[in-house]
Amino acid sequence: MADVNQYYKDALNIVLEAGKILKLGFNSPKEITTKTNIQDFVTQYDKLVEKTIIEAILKLYPNHKFIAEESAAQNTLTTEPTWILDPIDGTTNFIQGFPFCCISLALAIDKDLKIGIVYNPVLDQLFTGQKGKGAFLNSKQIHVNDTEVIFSAMIGFDLICFANNEPALQILLKKCELFIRNCRGIRSLGSAALQLCYLAMGAVDICVFKHLKCWDVAAGNLIIQEAGGIILDLEGRPYNNIMDADIIATCTRKLADELLKITK
Ligand code: IPD
Ligand code: CA
Ligand code: CA
Repeated sequence: MADVNQYYKDALNIVLEAGKILKLGFNSPKEITTKTNIQDFVTQYDKLVEKTIIEAILKLYPNHKFIAEESAAQNTLTTEPTWILDPIDGTTNFIQGFPFCCISLALAIDKDLKIGIVYNPVLDQLFTGQKGKGAFLNSKQIHVNDTEVIFSAMIGFDLICFANNEPALQILLKKCELFIRNCRGIRSLGSAALQLCYLAMGAVDICVFKHLKCWDVAAGNLIIQEAGGIILDLEGRPYNNIMDADIIATCTRKLADELLKITK
């Protein structure tokens, strides 16, 4: 059986190759359809990137499992090596020509994250992490900030569009107001995976996500942890269920505690 290091090297090559498809698609006309609602889009490139990555991994590791947005979204996590894939995170950005979109790929073994790769070929940003080996942006090691107070914190906030969910929209607006009153600034990239990586490199200090899926956050979560950051569930408990994507990520534990205090 190959070791995690070999899985990492292979996955990296596969993601870099698939990134060429994403980049080509970014600059080309797209076939756009909707999925679960009128604000949830998919293009032929989402499907092609996913198929390319899954086929390339299966060629090397026929027994590996997948949880992937466009084709294997219903799969449950087992102890087997399982790749968690979002072929394009930030599809709306991808369609709009807003250059924050990426491939997000994580590997879990025994339900524990071992590898995280987030690649934005449009801006040439490759974030990587392996459990216990640190986090990197384009091969240079990255660390979270040491911010401990909300007033000095930059918040990466996921401004989801809720066309048909008034209660969810009201909660989102309340949170937004709370942050506007209490923090240094708010940014929303439109890609959860990249937003988490921006926390890992110190560009933001807090990320809060609700209503997302495991493939949006798995790779980014490992990268943050390897960059010294904190991942908690929305109640403030340590993140230990990879399938749960409702999370608070912060650069320090103190900042997480302060955030939990003001949001309660
Ligand atoms: C989306 C992005 C976005 C978040 C959406 C996700 P997709 O993923 O992560 O930041 O606001 O809820 O669905 O659809 O572009 O893969
Ligand atoms: Ca996504
Ligand atoms: Ca996607």
